[in-house]
Amino acid sequence: DFEAITRVVSFRGVPMSKYNVENWERMDYFQARHDDVVIATYPKAGTTWVSEIMDMIYAGGDLEKCQRDAIYNRVPYMEIRVPGMPSGVDQLEVLASPRLIKTHVPIHLMPESFWEKNCKVIYVARNAKDVAVSYFFFHNMVKALPDPGPWDKFVTDYMNGAVSYGSWFDHVKGWWERRNQYQILYLFYEDLKEDPKREIKKILHFLKRELSEEVLEKIVHHTSFQIMSKNTMANYKTIPNELLNQTNTAFMRKGEAGDWKNHFTVAQNEMFDTHYQKEMLGTSLHFRTEI
Ligand code: PPS
Repeated sequence: DFEAITRVVSFRGVPMSKYNVENWERMDYFQARHDDVVIATYPKAGTTWVSEIMDMIYAGGDLEKCQRDAIYNRVPYMEIRVPGMPSGVDQLEVLASPRLIKTHVPIHLMPESFWEKNCKVIYVARNAKDVAVSYFFFHNMVKALPDPGPWDKFVTDYMNGAVSYGSWFDHVKGWWERRNQYQILYLFYEDLKEDPKREIKKILHFLKRELSEEVLEKIVHHTSFQIMSKNTMANYKTIPNELLNQTNTAFMRKGEAGDWKNHFTVAQNEMFDTHYQKEMLGTSLHFRTEI
């Protein structure tokens, strides 16, 4: 019954989709494995992109291997629970090691076990305004998320952290502040856009892996927006329209940095900037100002 779960509830101080919360009891006892690698992001920051990159790295660039299943099965989404489907936890329990795990949780909601096992995490941050735009379109596609209302309302809700997964500000700062406490590689979507090869090399260094120049080039090519958006195993086209309605907008929507300029009005932008400065005051985390 989808209507019943189309709700965001407060979960340990964080607004969270009701369908995720129902998986949480088991999340608390989640058993990490020492060779798990987690891809953590605030929603819409480049999770799928980095997931595909990671699976390709693990497959040594073998394209056929990466066609074995859809991206959400190759890299299960830990906290998700959709009625009638195995939850993320269910999927992960039976997945062979080494596992790649997707999550959107703020750092304080990560199951303890990941830290006890000293697991590696790749965190991807994307600039606040592009995330807002992408998240708005996504709300209009996903059946299990509340109707976002008009853009003007959504941008205010998002700015105030009144959306699923809560405040973008708390999320990016939370992970940033602890990046040296745990094994966290903190990446930016805009850096990946600018020079994917350079960023993939950072990932390889972090994983202590090596790949030939040829394989590296292959991964860059295969994970470009243009190619990935045509790849049915990576573009979410295998999800039925009743769950993710891609009639008007595709999950792989635009894949650009700076698209917010086409959506924020001057007034919305000024309001957002004022709020941004307050929220980001005193942090050493800086996003590119030209975006
Ligand atoms: S989710 O649902 O939270 O897991 O979504 P996520 O994958 O984090 O983010 C989706 C946005 O990432 C864009 N995307 C890409 N951009 C550039 N290159 C590649 N290869 C790529 N793959 C996905 C996707 O288009 C969404 O952004 P927008 O701005 O909406 O296009």
